[in-house]
Amino acid sequence: MNKLTIKDLDLKDKTILMRADFNVPQDAELKITDDTRIKATLPTIKYILEKGAKKLILISHLGRPDGKVVAKYSLKPVAERLSNLLGQPVKFLNDCVGDSVKKDIAASAERIILLENLRFHAEEEANDVNFAKQLATLAEIFVNDAFGTAHRAHASTEGVTHFLKSAAGFLLEKEIEYLGNAVSDPKKPFMVILGGAKVSDKIGVIENLLPKCDTILIGGGMCYTFLKAQGKQIGNSKLEKDKLGLAKSILDKAVALKKEIILPIDHIVVDNIAEGAKTEIVDEFIPEGKIAVDIGPKSIDLFNAKLKSAKTIVWNGPLGIFEMDAFANGTKRVAEFISGLGATTIIGGGDTAAAIAKFKLEDKMTHISTGGGASLEYLEGKTLPGVAALSDK
Ligand code: 3PG
Repeated sequence: MNKLTIKDLDLKDKTILMRADFNVPQDAELKITDDTRIKATLPTIKYILEKGAKKLILISHLGRPDGKVVAKYSLKPVAERLSNLLGQPVKFLNDCVGDSVKKDIAASAERIILLENLRFHAEEEANDVNFAKQLATLAEIFVNDAFGTAHRAHASTEGVTHFLKSAAGFLLEKEIEYLGNAVSDPKKPFMVILGGAKVSDKIGVIENLLPKCDTILIGGGMCYTFLKAQGKQIGNSKLEKDKLGLAKSILDKAVALKKEIILPIDHIVVDNIAEGAKTEIVDEFIPEGKIAVDIGPKSIDLFNAKLKSAKTIVWNGPLGIFEMDAFANGTKRVAEFISGLGATTIIGGGDTAAAIAKFKLEDKMTHISTGGGASLEYLEGKTLPGVAALSDK
């Protein structure tokens, strides 16, 4: 990466402002249900402390409170979890800018301070210059470790970099390295697994990766628009009618580029999408009234037979409605298979990461991104504003 990283800087006795992505899922009692994103920032936090920083001020968003103070989006539970994970106190402040925040930071006996949700201020998402300036006045160096938010040009990811020397943390650096290398210099055969509900969400990734990869395997809700474009009968499965032409042109482009696009050859179908719904396996033609919810056993074998020779695999989007156990088999069997291949396996964030966590395969993949939208945009070949804004080396 041609950007400054924390290793390039002298952090001793400095006050550091660090943007993290602590946008973690919580249950109705506001208990954090998955702390992967908090754990992922620990190497950077520990490094900053070990290098003798005077104070570490952490900032993040949580949810989408749209510029208002919304109690359920408070970062307080994150401060508690972070403190437990680090085994040292984390001071929590009820706001992220202003004189009283400055005074509290100066008076804090704790070295680590987490400020309240940035998005309680509308200026954050508006990338307001004065808000960014106020954040910058809290510290001497800015560190961005919020890969999950790097696709947003907000005050805390982009604006603030105009006022402070700005470096990448270890998580951000690692994400860029893995996702970047997988796409720009993959060991071949390079295969891409795509799933998820909508073709429209994945067009950019297909367009960017089709010329670079050898094979794209498509499952999930999005595959039914492709199957329909091939003239197959898809029953009542998910269809994006306005994307049929696009799906057809992608299939034609793959032929022209001599690339393989593999689609499912059988399906798990139901009458209604519900936990406990009666499932059936059907071959290529899905009867009217039936909704496909997962790829079938022959498709699993076909996908795994193709993936067997892969040296690099990038996966974005589950192959079925994995949240419901009865429809999780396709995603699970393919995940298990690739986890034992010895190939470089790069898993996109969001749903795909959640599926891998559900099957407890996290330790068996090369890299699982902490960014959903960010990893998608990166795989689309887009520049991430939060990365572009960091100081050059
Ligand atoms: C995410 O969860 O993808 C990031 O935290 C970004 O959140 P956002 O989509 O609300 O900007």
